[in-house]
Amino acid sequence: MILSRREGDPDLEECLAATSAQLPQLRTNWDAISAAIQAYANASISSIRLASKRVIHVETVSGLSFAVKFGNRSAPLAREVSTLRFLKGAKCPVPAVIPTNVTHGEPEWIATEWGGNRTLDAFLDQCTESQADLAGLQLATAVAQIEGAFAQVTRQGVPGAARQMAIKLLEPWADHAADGLAWLFASEATGQLRMAVDRVVKKALNAALTAGPLDYHASNVVVSNSDLRLSVVDLGAIGYDWPGRRLAQYAMSVQSGVPGGRFRTALTPEAVTQFGGALAQIHTGDLGSHVNELDAHALLIGAIAATQLRAVSTGAASAERTAAWGASETRITSLRTVILRTLSGEGPANDVRELLSQQ
Ligand SMILES: Nc1ncnc2c1ncn2[C@@H]1O[C@H](COP(=O)(O)OP(=O)(O)OP(=O)(O)O)[C@@H](O)[C@H]1O
Ligand SMILES: [Mg+2]
Repeated sequence: MILSRREGDPDLEECLAATSAQLPQLRTNWDAISAAIQAYANASISSIRLASKRVIHVETVSGLSFAVKFGNRSAPLAREVSTLRFLKGAKCPVPAVIPTNVTHGEPEWIATEWGGNRTLDAFLDQCTESQADLAGLQLATAVAQIEGAFAQVTRQGVPGAARQMAIKLLEPWADHAADGLAWLFASEATGQLRMAVDRVVKKALNAALTAGPLDYHASNVVVSNSDLRLSVVDLGAIGYDWPGRRLAQYAMSVQSGVPGGRFRTALTPEAVTQFGGALAQIHTGDLGSHVNELDAHALLIGAIAATQLRAVSTGAASAERTAAWGASETRITSLRTVILRTLSGEGPANDVRELLSQQ
C-alpha cells in the first residue's frame, strides 16, 4: 500500500504549475517521474521545488527526498547514469539512481536520491572551523574513493593527447600566476617570487594525470541535512586530470553569485596527507611527492583566482565573472587567507607562501 498525501501538505498541482513554469520539461515528463519516484519510495509525492536551473527537489509524504535532473543537448544524461551506477557499485559517496523504464537511448531526465539541501560551496560559507576541517577530511576520503574506482582506467594508460590538452589549458593561467599573486598581496612580482612560482608550476604540471570527474568544484558536492555527510554529484563528464587539482578545487568555496561572498577552503594538512597516502596506495609514488603536487595545484588554483579577481577589479573581466564575484575587500582578504594556509611542511608551494607572507 502506498503512503498517501496528508491534509495540510502543499497543493501538488500548484507546486507543479509553478515549477513547470520555470522548467517546462517537468510538465511533459511528470507522469513518468512521479510513477518512478512513488514506486521507489512507496509513498506519494508531497512537494516539488526548483533546486537549480535544471534540477528539481521532490519530497514524498514519508519524508524521502529526490533530485530530478533534466538533460539538454550539451549535457546528455546516459553517461552520467552509468557513472553514478558504477561509482555506487564501488561504494563511493554518490547518490543512488532511481530505476525508470527508460532502458536505452538518451533519457530526458534522471532521478537520484537527495544528498542534502546545501552544496559544499554554501556550507563552507556558514560552518565553523572544525566543521570545515571535518568536511575537508570527508572530501579527501570521497575523492580518494572515486580515484580508486577509476584506477583500473588510469592503469590502462593516460593518452598523451589528454596530457597535452590538460597542460595547454592550465599553462596560460600558470604564466600569470606570479603577477596575480603579487597583485593580491599588494606587492611586486620580484625575481625571487617568479622563480618560486615557476617551481610550483613545474611541480603541478609534471604530476601524473588520472581518470576521474572533470566537473570538480564545491557546488558539485552536497552536504546532508542531519549529519555532515558529503555526496559528489554532477558526474556527467569523466576524463583525465591531475588528482591534486581535483581535490583542491572540490575543496574551495568560491561563492559564485553571492554578493559579498568570500573564498574559503576545506583543505587542511590532515586532509592533504590522507589524500596523498591514498594516492600512494592506489597508484605509485610516495606520500611526500603526492602531497607536494597537490599543494602545488592548490596554490595554482589560488593564483588563478587572484588573476581573475584582479580582472574583476580593473573592469577587464567578463560580465559573467564580475556578476559572480564582485570585487569586494572581503574577496581579497579571504583569498589571501586561503592561499596562505599551510598544507605541508615543505615543497615549492610552501616556499611561495613564505615569500608572500613576508610582504
Ligand atoms: N542528488 C542530489 N542531492 C542534492 N542536491 C542535488 C542533487 N543533484 C543535484 N543537486 C543540486 O542541484 C545542483 C545542480 O545539479 P548538477 O550539479 O548535477 O547539475 P548542473 O549541470 O551543474 O546544473 P546547473 O545547470 O544548475 O549548473 C547541484 O549543485 C545541487 O545543488
Ligand atoms: Mg553542477
